[in-house]
Amino acid sequence: MAGSRLSRRSFAAALGAGVSGSLLAPRFLPAVRAAAPAGPIRLDSNENPYGPSARAREAMTASQVIASRYPDAAEDTLREAIARHHGVSPEQVVLGCGSGEILKMADMAFLAPGRTVVVAQPTFEAVILYARSTRAEAVTVPQTSDFRHDLPRMAAACDARTGMVYVCNPNNPTGTIVSSAELAAFLERVPRTATVLVDEAYHHFVEDKSYGTVIPSIAKHPNLVVARTFSKIYGLAGMRMGYAVATKENADALRDQQIWSNGNAAVLAAAVASIEDAGHVTQQRDALNGTKRYLCDAFAKDGRRFIPSHANFVMVEVGSDVTPVIAAFKAQGIHVGRKFPTMETWLRISIGTQAETEAFVAALRTIVPARRAA
Ligand SMILES: Cc1ncc(COP(=O)(O)O)c(C=O)c1O
Repeated sequence: MAGSRLSRRSFAAALGAGVSGSLLAPRFLPAVRAAAPAGPIRLDSNENPYGPSARAREAMTASQVIASRYPDAAEDTLREAIARHHGVSPEQVVLGCGSGEILKMADMAFLAPGRTVVVAQPTFEAVILYARSTRAEAVTVPQTSDFRHDLPRMAAACDARTGMVYVCNPNNPTGTIVSSAELAAFLERVPRTATVLVDEAYHHFVEDKSYGTVIPSIAKHPNLVVARTFSKIYGLAGMRMGYAVATKENADALRDQQIWSNGNAAVLAAAVASIEDAGHVTQQRDALNGTKRYLCDAFAKDGRRFIPSHANFVMVEVGSDVTPVIAAFKAQGIHVGRKFPTMETWLRISIGTQAETEAFVAALRTIVPARRAA
């Protein structure tokens, strides 16, 4: 989204069980943060605080020698690596400057004036905001009482005018999931004339066995498009790379909206190194999910209401408008998530390093005192 009028920051303006931490602290990973400039603790954008893998960093360094060349061959190499990873053909893979660009391409390809985009409320807003320039209408469907996508109501909201329906799984900001079985039933109900865009940005954090990627369903449901990103578990948010997997026809429709060479030589090399490093993904997931268990345990001990999360962020109820709470954290050097529509008294915290997360818990106890003594 860099360079766009709709920056990550302007999104906010536009839309108005475990043991104690130190016992459960994950084994510490190479401290990338130690090399990073000192600054605020950033628990606001669901990034990976440990940064990219060692192999990805090596690949970025090595890319300096090819910086003067257009990266066409490197794009092919990455698309082939992604295709191998998912068992699809390279023609079915589209690269984006972050998955944010994929969401924008999907809006441009599948929406138009007079058409609708059906979304859960709340969800990641990019699809709604990018849809404005297509002059399509957003149809928002309230979440269930347990903060999940209401898939039966979303399917019922689709009609002949629907160009696209967006399912964020796990959902940002709630961290909730819909199961493979629920999604399969949904895909049967949505009219074939509507594209189903499933955003799996937080796929790698999910441990629940009822959940799975929907990529294998593309063969049965040609109206399905799946978005992925290198910004989350792979730790490459600042480098910008995401992708879509779709039928060849839908991939071509997305590519019609793409600029040439939307990935740079450094990130293309880093992405290949990352997707082929399964051990690193497991290590990151275990570390970050360990810290998430510590955080949720602290919430439970304090008597706070929170939403059990399948992603690398958690929402906690703060009892009143979250805006001054966000400002109070900022004053203490801790950046936390923005306010989300329909959840004005909820705070979203991204999982940081164990030490950052412990600092957050200590600050929370001063800003919003616990209902029960810790
Ligand atoms: C659900 C979801 N999809 C897509 C994105 C876009 O990420 P990026 O453009 O960095 O791939 C984000 C970023 O936070 C997100 O939360």
